[in-house]
Amino acid sequence: MDIEAVIISLLREHHEVISGEELSREFNISRVAIWKHIENLRQIGYKIEAEAHRGYRFISAPDRVLAMEIRYGLKTRFIGHDIRAYEEVSSTNDIALDLARREAKEGTVVIAESQSSGRGRMGRSWFSPFGKGLWASIIFYPELLPNQLGRMNLVFGVALAEAIKKETSLPVELKWPNDVMVSGKKAGGILIEMSAEMDQVKYLVVGLGLNVNVPLSDFPKHLRESASSLSQEKGNSIDRLSLIREILRQIENYYLFFKEKGITPIREKWLVLSKTLGHYLKVELPARTIYGQAVDVDEEGALLLRTEHGLQERITAGDIYFIS
Ligand code: BTN
Repeated sequence: MDIEAVIISLLREHHEVISGEELSREFNISRVAIWKHIENLRQIGYKIEAEAHRGYRFISAPDRVLAMEIRYGLKTRFIGHDIRAYEEVSSTNDIALDLARREAKEGTVVIAESQSSGRGRMGRSWFSPFGKGLWASIIFYPELLPNQLGRMNLVFGVALAEAIKKETSLPVELKWPNDVMVSGKKAGGILIEMSAEMDQVKYLVVGLGLNVNVPLSDFPKHLRESASSLSQEKGNSIDRLSLIREILRQIENYYLFFKEKGITPIREKWLVLSKTLGHYLKVELPARTIYGQAVDVDEEGALLLRTEHGLQERITAGDIYFIS
């Protein structure tokens, strides 16, 4: 851990003032060097009070997705042990895909305050304004056949929904394949990308986009009807740091649970969270639009639709709209 992360965690846990002298003894560096580190921390946005002749006192941490902030109090076995945090990137998925190609550790997290070319599913762009959302990607090396990728949609969808519910108490639902919905509006989504050979997934990047504290008026006009944010639905702003820690925790839990127990119990949870079954849907496929009733979501994450012509279609990619 770098020295500034240790200084800040010491100050944070020590509710009283810590003197410069004590810190300089602890780290075996001069008091001037300590003061320089404190100044650096202040530059990043930490509020640290200096009391004359007494020392330093922690006041607050910045609302920034800094690696050391996310790691603070994160009790995971492997996810987030390596966190790459940026102010702005093109897309966190691009960076994570590149890291995975170079065999970065499983569980490596890439996170940014904003993305200039955030990607959504079906070739759409993903609105990723600075400092108001969680735009993050995580690397996995699962033992999976390429055609089993849909399972991971179920695993990570459930994990994300459970984490948001736990942190915000909002009535989160999942909309197939994996939109995070609150009161019928989209507040987040998941984009899973992979590299695979014929019979084995080589690596997988799970991209999470969550509109946390985005005011409705910030959304581009074409999204204002259909999109929302957690703060908008909750009526107050939400602590992004404690939310991302909980998301990483739940993602690890469900990933390990999936490895141990398989997809069956996770699909059950997904079905409870999604409330998709039974509804009449308009389904936009990459090349056509069909209508029908959702009869099931199978263990590969595919949607089974009984069409208006009485046929059953198995859909692996598309967008759904509820008709009734
Ligand atoms: C969707 O279309 O619903 C999926 C949206 C996924 C967006 C996230 S933001 C972090 C990661 N980086 C990207 O470019 N996209 C994903």
